[in-house]
Amino acid sequence: ANPSLLILPGDGIGPEVMAEVRRVIDWFGANRGLTFDVSEDLVGGAAYDAHGTPLHDDTMAKAQEVDAVLLGAVGGPKYDDLDFSVKPERGLLRLRKEMDLFSNLRPAQCFDALADFSSLKREVVAGLDIMIVRELTSGVYFGEPRGIHREGNERVGINTQRYTESEIARVARSAFDLARKRSNKVCSMEKANVMESGILWREVVQEVHDAEYPDVALTHMYADNGAMQLVRAPKQFDVIVTDNLFGDVLSDCAAMLTGSLGMLPSASLGLPMANGRPKAMYEPVHGSAPDIAGQGKANPIACILSFAMALRYSFDEGAAADLLEGAVEKVLADGVRTADLMGPDGGTPVGTTQMGDAILAALDAG
Ligand code: NAI
Ligand code: MG
Repeated sequence: ANPSLLILPGDGIGPEVMAEVRRVIDWFGANRGLTFDVSEDLVGGAAYDAHGTPLHDDTMAKAQEVDAVLLGAVGGPKYDDLDFSVKPERGLLRLRKEMDLFSNLRPAQCFDALADFSSLKREVVAGLDIMIVRELTSGVYFGEPRGIHREGNERVGINTQRYTESEIARVARSAFDLARKRSNKVCSMEKANVMESGILWREVVQEVHDAEYPDVALTHMYADNGAMQLVRAPKQFDVIVTDNLFGDVLSDCAAMLTGSLGMLPSASLGLPMANGRPKAMYEPVHGSAPDIAGQGKANPIACILSFAMALRYSFDEGAAADLLEGAVEKVLADGVRTADLMGPDGGTPVGTTQMGDAILAALDAG
């Protein structure tokens, strides 16, 4: 059977950028014999408008069955005043929670043609290609006890950083598996110098490595030093694995090494299914961009690169992923730019569809 994909375009620019991904998927079917069983459904505000809920139970069930979910973006001003329980974001959170997507992959890849957009000097970032793996379902954002209490005559705010051995081991495995599809190098970041959970984190990552992944080069680094190193010399890294809190901060920091939000893909992975593929959802980092929605000028590259990640990490189609990333790189090198990628000296930007046209033409040529 063909591998299956559930496409959830969502709101705002979500459907606009996803339309270009559909054309890329069709291209691989027509030209590389890589055919997917694609179904499409609603999520977020679009699902709320149709069903009164940001994620219908049938859609949730479908997401659990397919090999991978591709999501556009959810939300928008139209839904800002909705009750918390039916807000568009809740659709996304339900998918992450019920699919148990504990491993969040955020690549920071700097295309040479865009190196001058980075917050850093060109020579520090040109050619950068690293991956931050963030634990997404545990840690200090979820640990108990939590709350704001009164102690004597003042209030105290409490959160608890809590990690079980199995939570650490499974995200470590996910990072090691990825490393084997890349440069076989993992750096684990925590604060074992001052945190008990950090000590356990370091021990368990090392144990999983020694028992199951001795071929992968593993190093450990304190997360504060990691932040410095990411900005000083980011190309020293390949895969970085870290907890939920440090991963939140470090992945946003790494994102800014590369330029525009319109370029950043992501993946969230869970446990392997019966067919050996991990539960998986792929989505651009950006939101629904209401300020430009409906104008045909959104950059589809973040969503297209999210599909490239699906090719690589769900379907073991590394060559197809290379081809697609190469096409994006070529188009950028040729100077094709959506408005978000225009420098101060200007030029004429292309729209969403023309960027899609250019990428398809590069695929044809390559
Ligand atoms: P946003 O990412 O939607 O937009 C931030 C800025 O970046 C805007 O100026 C936008 O025009 C620009 N931008 C974003 N993606 C772009 C693209 N592909 N091409 C060109 N320009 C792009 O974040 P914002 O404005 O904070 O949130 C807007 C809505 O999206 C809110 O309802 C928010 O809750 C939702 N959101 C949804 C996310 C998701 O679905 N995963 C993530 C972040 C926000
Ligand atoms: Mg963040």
